[in-house]
Amino acid sequence: MTTDTGAPISPDRLAAARLRLEVDGAVATITLDRPEVRNAQTPTMWRTLAEIGAWLPDEVRVVVVRGAGATFSAGLDRTLLTPGGGDGQERVADLLTLDEEAFSRTVGEYQEGFTWLRDPRFVSIAAVRGHAIGAGFQLALSCDLVLAADDATFCMKEAALGLVPDLTGTKPLVDAVGYSRALEICATARNVGAEEAVRIGIAIDAVPGDALDARLAQLVTALTAPLPGAVRETKALLLGATDRDLDTQRRLEREAQGRRFRELAALLGGQQ
Ligand code: CAA
Repeated sequence: MTTDTGAPISPDRLAAARLRLEVDGAVATITLDRPEVRNAQTPTMWRTLAEIGAWLPDEVRVVVVRGAGATFSAGLDRTLLTPGGGDGQERVADLLTLDEEAFSRTVGEYQEGFTWLRDPRFVSIAAVRGHAIGAGFQLALSCDLVLAADDATFCMKEAALGLVPDLTGTKPLVDAVGYSRALEICATARNVGAEEAVRIGIAIDAVPGDALDARLAQLVTALTAPLPGAVRETKALLLGATDRDLDTQRRLEREAQGRRFRELAALLGGQQ
């Protein structure tokens, strides 16, 4: 059953941000809901995504991000790049009026719509059909796992627009595919198809479009089968592993295992 979230983010605010949020027990599903413009993204959407991340209850163990209709997301709403565009919405073009500090602070706020998906409290999954372009690709990369339909294409379009990817996608891309391939993908702004995305480590799997929901359900079941603490501790360990030296990592493994032993002992003790 899909339950109403009771989130402090009102349905009106979610609708204004063109997002849908459903929380069903351990699983939260966020849908970018602007199919008529291929789920093009806005600052309002990013600010609301960050608020959703801050609000999500502790029971949530998996966050699914998807797009309404046949495409995940065509990236930034390009009408917001032009002065006067965007129907009164917060415009990316207005960043030009800011001094350096305010520019950095504002883009930092936009980025928070993406970074929360790395929170070890849950595993995040991007379910990608059709295009994931620019901010759309970066949103998918912000998720721990990318599950692709076989028609999915990923494109880091920013360079073609004279910009850089600044919505936190560069690090997970390098982590996934390595520096050289990441540079080639970003600098050429080419399309990466679903099969290649799996082969080079962007996506974990590519399945026929009509099998995407079933594969997603299977993955969610598998991710929620272990005790929540085991998955959370494991995610925290793996997430920082490449940035740590071996001694630090093995110390963190020991400490995490100590917490696991204590929780398991408490659970077993409670059963006797
Ligand atoms: N912003 C605003 N409107 C968009 C949009 C976008 N990013 N992408 C699509 N739309 C609109 C189109 O203008 C069109 O509107 P109308 O019906 O009013 O003409 C509608 O959505 C449908 O678009 P298409 O007919 O092009 O749909 P398609 O399915 O044939 O193609 C697509 C889909 C390949 C995504 C194509 O629309 C496209 O290339 N869009 C632009 C992608 C883009 O350049 N995104 C910006 C990337 S850069 C970034 O995101 C990060 C950054 O910070 C700069």
